[in-house]
Amino acid sequence: MNMGFRTALMGVGLLCLAFTTPAVAANVDNGRQVYDTYCTSCHGADGLLDTSSPVIQGLGVTPADFSDALFNSREPADDWRMVIKYGGHAMGLAEQMPAQGEVLSDQQVDDVTAYLKSLVDTSAFPPGEMNLMLPIRTKKAFPEDEVVYIGRYTDREGNHAYKQVLEIEKRIGKAGQGILELVHESDGSVSELAEVEIGYKQALSFSTSHILSAAAVVAVPVEADGDGELQSYLAYGKLLSPSWIFQSSLRLKFPFADSSDGEVELAGIAHYVHSPWPRRVFPALEVVASKPFRSSKGDLEWTVMPQVRVGLTRGGHVALNLGVELPLSDQSWDQRYYMTLLWDFADGSFFQGW
Ligand code: HEC
Repeated sequence: MNMGFRTALMGVGLLCLAFTTPAVAANVDNGRQVYDTYCTSCHGADGLLDTSSPVIQGLGVTPADFSDALFNSREPADDWRMVIKYGGHAMGLAEQMPAQGEVLSDQQVDDVTAYLKSLVDTSAFPPGEMNLMLPIRTKKAFPEDEVVYIGRYTDREGNHAYKQVLEIEKRIGKAGQGILELVHESDGSVSELAEVEIGYKQALSFSTSHILSAAAVVAVPVEADGDGELQSYLAYGKLLSPSWIFQSSLRLKFPFADSSDGEVELAGIAHYVHSPWPRRVFPALEVVASKPFRSSKGDLEWTVMPQVRVGLTRGGHVALNLGVELPLSDQSWDQRYYMTLLWDFADGSFFQGW
């Protein structure tokens, strides 16, 4: 065999090896030892927070209670690795949580994170890994505590139209979420609180790499005309790789007056996650197709939405989405601009961690 060819083959072999060699799995027992040595004084023996301890009382801030299943499940392990390595301040938390990156190896950080995750059974709760970026149109599957403001400006001939939506979403139980939305519309001649939407979402299936949820929302007109409608949707999220996320939703709208007058909407989005630091700009591309049930009501409409998520706080619990929606089919408007402001209130007050 030719020497150059053989060297090339060996190179490819080594490369394959480099990509397939699994990282050393996190070891919970080693993690416990790390915890007992470095963390117990503040976080309590066995992860049970002891609020009567003078050390904890002296901190001025109460450390996290890892034995609380809801809390433990909703925080992604990657975020905890960052907090442990770089300290609370780096991720928008209290600076009393010291950075351990100088003391612990990456393996020890992985081990202690695995130990923290093993402290309580969270199998009935959707994992925080699945609390994915909020897309503009695709419905999110994770049942989170969120306040979201969405502003939409439609550029069209004659009247330009504004729509504003305030969403308040709150976790209910282990895997459910209550939804309340206020929709305000104005287009030059009218400006009104158009409708109120009330709904419920339930996560049906989840792991640390996928989530599937179903939701039903009733839209009741306030100042707008009409009888309102029932909307139901399935929402799906999937981690394709450490840096690519896919989300999709299938939504059906049934007007109360005549449910065959409704429409179906399929939306999907891919995000590129290039950094573990939340306060970055993350690009995404979303595509939406919608079609009235009755073809006499209109044709299939396609739009594409390039967008970016901008993490505003150090931990990313307040974030902005900016996007533009461009029609790919014949539509009554030219462009729509979106601005979404999201506040994940389970992770702290709006003003924390800027
Ligand atoms: C000097 C006290 C102290 C020590 C030592 C300490 N922590 Fe903390 N830790 C805190 C405090 C206080 C917070 C809460 C920060 C907040 O909520 O703003 C915290 C928060 C955390 C969080 C973030 C939880 C969340 O809110 O998502 C993790 C993870 C964590 N600590 C892990 C560890 C580990 C692992 C060790 C040991 C290697 C450790 N801590 C050692 C005080 C401490």
